[in-house]
Amino acid sequence: MAGGYKYFEAIEKHAGKLGILIAIMVSLGGLAEITPLFMEAHKVHPAEGVKPYDPLRLAGKDIYVREGCYLCHSQMIRALRFETQRYGHYSVASESVYDRPFQWGSKRTGPDLARVGGKYSDTWQRLHLMDPRAVAPDSNMPAFPWLARETIDAADIQARMRTLRRLGDPYSDAEIAAAPEALKGKTAMDALIAYLQGLGVDNEPHAPATAQAGAR
Ligand code: HEC
Repeated sequence: MAGGYKYFEAIEKHAGKLGILIAIMVSLGGLAEITPLFMEAHKVHPAEGVKPYDPLRLAGKDIYVREGCYLCHSQMIRALRFETQRYGHYSVASESVYDRPFQWGSKRTGPDLARVGGKYSDTWQRLHLMDPRAVAPDSNMPAFPWLARETIDAADIQARMRTLRRLGDPYSDAEIAAAPEALKGKTAMDALIAYLQGLGVDNEPHAPATAQAGAR
């Protein structure tokens, strides 16, 4: 026992040694907790029916991010009854695998948009983006009229598709080659509306394990 005590004393009476050993122990503890989470992230696979964005929606997603829509709109429905009753099935990680950067968020000046696709017509979406007060008189959402005049650079979207492919999104050469055709004559407004109309439609979770929970 006496030998063991001496050993502890040597550590406890030297703040420097004690500090270094504490730092080592805390780091080991941290690694033990964090490393498995990195492994978990790779285990999330796309839910059934979830596909990478087509070129027009991909362009629309970029505009959504560029215009800061996420500053007022989340795309994350929480697993709480009053949320699923209002917005639909709660959000799951496997429906956002192709969202880079993901748009979950928690800031809701406006409603959650995770499943807004198909809720309104394209015409409503256009009117609303041109002038939100035209369809929602009390809205404090800004208008985005310039999007209707902006064209989309197909080469830019093709470059994005190639980059996303490098990150693992399964775009084929044919899909990338067909992008300019799909974007021909489209405005930023068209792209953003296509993106919004796809939210919760293409990526609604269909897995049997989660399908029964949502009240849509
Ligand atoms: C300053 C905050 C703010 C910003 C920025 C903003 N919104 Fe909104 N948005 C709102 C509010 C508030 C509402 C609810 C009133 C209304 O319908 O206009 C809303 C409603 C909506 C709706 C209708 C949702 C529903 O379920 O009824 C859509 C779609 C929408 N916004 C899309 C967008 C897009 C796309 C952008 C970016 C181009 C954007 N918003 C930027 C505040 C914002």
